[in-house]
Amino acid sequence: MLGCSWSLATTPLSLNKVKSCALVAAAVTGFAAAAAQTPSDKPALPWGGDPPAAPAYARAAAITALGRQIFFDRSLSASGAMSCATCHDFANHFAPANSLAVQAGGAKLDKSGTRATPGLTYVASTPFFTEHYYESEDDGDESVDQGPVGGRTWDGRVNRAREQAAIPLLAPNEMANSSEAAVVARAAAAPYASQMRQIYGDTIFTETHRAFAAIGEALEAYQQTPEEFSPFTSKYDAFLRGRTQLTAQELRGLDAFNDPARGNCIHCHKSQLSPVGRLPMFTDSGFIAVGVPRNKEIPANADPNHFDLGACGPERKDLANRPEFCGLFKAPSLRNVAIRKSFYHNGVFHSLEDAVAFYATRDTNPERWYPVGPDGKVRKFDDLPEEFQRNINYEPPFDRHAGEAPAMSAQDIADIVVFLRTLTDGFDAARKSVAATRP
Ligand code: HEC
Ligand code: HEC
Repeated sequence: MLGCSWSLATTPLSLNKVKSCALVAAAVTGFAAAAAQTPSDKPALPWGGDPPAAPAYARAAAITALGRQIFFDRSLSASGAMSCATCHDFANHFAPANSLAVQAGGAKLDKSGTRATPGLTYVASTPFFTEHYYESEDDGDESVDQGPVGGRTWDGRVNRAREQAAIPLLAPNEMANSSEAAVVARAAAAPYASQMRQIYGDTIFTETHRAFAAIGEALEAYQQTPEEFSPFTSKYDAFLRGRTQLTAQELRGLDAFNDPARGNCIHCHKSQLSPVGRLPMFTDSGFIAVGVPRNKEIPANADPNHFDLGACGPERKDLANRPEFCGLFKAPSLRNVAIRKSFYHNGVFHSLEDAVAFYATRDTNPERWYPVGPDGKVRKFDDLPEEFQRNINYEPPFDRHAGEAPAMSAQDIADIVVFLRTLTDGFDAARKSVAATRP
């Protein structure tokens, strides 16, 4: 998380506008030279590369089409009423349509979840989880340990979308299948069963484990389709491509977002073209304890002893004995964030304004966010047991104290919110894909 910030001012791609950049001189030269290229229309994505041979391509296309059907198939749940798309709504960039902090699932759709449902756009490029990430080309310095990064879900407990798909299919409070065999039996009765046989062989449904893995593979392939999951059609993308201008307020918001002395958001939510001209993902996928307030809307929180500690558990098991991971959650991409109706891992905020203002006044005016006890004291970080509160992040903009001025003014916050709205896909109609209509 290197502090390299620059201001775009009014001309996109004008690299003479670089304001301040904590890179060594040699790297800056490389940065400027590389970034001066026009950003690639087709950003390099993990599934990119040389066009595969025709039969392999046809097979991949068939698997992707199968995955799309599975993603929207409600019969694949114990309730018969819940598909992946029930929570990951197509019309909302695969985030929930409602404003509930957590969604309910299960055979009778009455079992509540414990975490906010993330949107699924741009998550395909998340790196695998690693405890020590050394950032490479993008910052020009490989020697800095950026700490834990990557993986899927809020705690990074699985690496691939195919492993991730098994979680909701089998979770008692989500699609609630009792076993892999139950999922496979439902798929065997689905309209796409014949396609599965065609792709994976006639005996596929008699081999439970292989069939279950095929369902995961197909869901993964679908979630990797750039047209639907990584379209890069936001106003900000059009701006970076030199196809549109941002308004004065949007530019002010971008400036405050990038300014290390104000938002410093860029530190974790990357907003710049990479040195080789890749469009930014608005996350470094790093793990941070932001310390958002406890959310009473989550039924599990009625138990005062229940805590969602993120990377150290309870969902994630492998880091359970590593107290330094308690309270840490993965930074999500801010692309399409403006359409979300609940923010952060526990969905505690329901407006983008609050989600941004929290960064400004968490430490200067904590009484705005946390409960005040009978003794009149603010119970700061009330969703993290005291023993883990040393993990809380205090980097800018979290470097202020009670009584000091917040790092961001009310105007900065309003401007950042307006800028974040430029990250919603669908602005650049010329680039809208042919495919993306709801099945
Ligand atoms: C009941 C609501 C619900 C359903 C149904 C559901 N999900 Fe999710 N999804 C969630 C929640 C909640 C999370 C966050 C889980 C966590 O952090 O532990 C999530 C996380 C994810 C992630 C990780 C995203 C990231 O940012 O790393 C992916 C991918 C995903 N879901 C895909 C799917 C697929 C595929 C299906 C269908 C097989 C599905 N989901 C069904 C609620 C749901
Ligand atoms: C030190 C790293 C870091 C910095 C700096 C940072 N963020 Fe975040 N951001 C995170 C992490 C980690 C999360 C998820 C935390 C959680 O859910 O507990 C997050 C979550 C968010 C969310 C909620 C997204 C969602 O899908 O629910 C928004 C909005 C957001 N950040 C905006 C900003 C803005 C605006 C700034 C600058 C004022 C900023 N962030 C600065 C790491 C950071």
